[in-house]
Amino acid sequence: MKALPLVPREHLPEFLRALPKAELHIHIEGSLEPELIFKLAKRNGVALSYPSVEALRQAYAFTDLQSFLDIYYAGASVLLHEQDFYDMAWAYFEKAAADHVLHAELFFDPQTHTARGVAMGTVIGGLHHACEDARARLGISSALILCFLRHLSEEDAFTTLEQALPYRERFIGVGLDSSERGNPPEKFARVFARCSELGLHRVAHAGEEGPPAFITTALDVLKVERIDHGVQAIFDPQLIERLARERVPLTVCPLSNLRLRVTPDLSKHPLKQLLDAGVMVTINSDDPAYFGGYLNENFLQTFAALPLDAADAVRLVRHSFEASFVDEATRAGFMRQLDDCLARFL
Ligand code: HPA
Ligand code: ZN
Repeated sequence: MKALPLVPREHLPEFLRALPKAELHIHIEGSLEPELIFKLAKRNGVALSYPSVEALRQAYAFTDLQSFLDIYYAGASVLLHEQDFYDMAWAYFEKAAADHVLHAELFFDPQTHTARGVAMGTVIGGLHHACEDARARLGISSALILCFLRHLSEEDAFTTLEQALPYRERFIGVGLDSSERGNPPEKFARVFARCSELGLHRVAHAGEEGPPAFITTALDVLKVERIDHGVQAIFDPQLIERLARERVPLTVCPLSNLRLRVTPDLSKHPLKQLLDAGVMVTINSDDPAYFGGYLNENFLQTFAALPLDAADAVRLVRHSFEASFVDEATRAGFMRQLDDCLARFL
């Protein structure tokens, strides 16, 4: 690796903001800001159980993953038409552009919508058109990853996959999210095997609240290529060694971990220990409208709380490009943009 610019601590925020990045763990429904929830509720005649934007925002005091999911699924209930999905994703892309995101892989939760009678084509169509416009108007490349809700059955996941297959060219992979406790990766062994046969990329949330063993079974049973969160690996030294040796990317989300009380304080977050152990850690925003910040805010607050420096920042963004599901020429282009940015700071 080239010698890195020495960035004085007071210039670190500016450096973090300017770095080009890839975002690999963003639930697009988690980018729905309270203002847009109210606007869409009005447009679609959907009743909300909160009287105002402020009241809704005040309800964002979470105690664990489930307390967040309950509000997150309620927020998504205002999404009915293709234009709604487009507007949500477009608002995210504008924020991502401001944070120097070159590439974003967006999770979406179709079961949240199909269960309310919204067609799969409506969901994927709106998101896909926003992705096309992000490329044309903002220069951001992006891709969609369909997530199965793990609190539902594997049979339901299979039905969802069938409904999505007519749009196979519009998503690159599948993920696994929602309530982790009591819903181990093995529950979805057969549907992930089928996705593998279909040539889909595979990722899964594991070791967010669940035990390190869920990270191991996500890798060995679901054959995932990245682990979403994975921070509970900190309690299993052998697993840390394996993640480092096999270069398994972890899409870590510090502000999410703080808000959902996975970590009591960002200064106690295991991100630096995992990075120093050689794990391919990346920083991501998860559900930025709910957790207090988009990608740059995650970088800024994490670097303010932990003894991380410019070399760590470069390592993190390099990891984000290495872990993204793009072709080698595209990845090389991202790395060149990173080198150009570093040259400007020298
Ligand atoms: N964990 C699990 N499921 C989710 C999350 C998360 O952080 N965000 C949206 N769905
Ligand atoms: Zn997530």
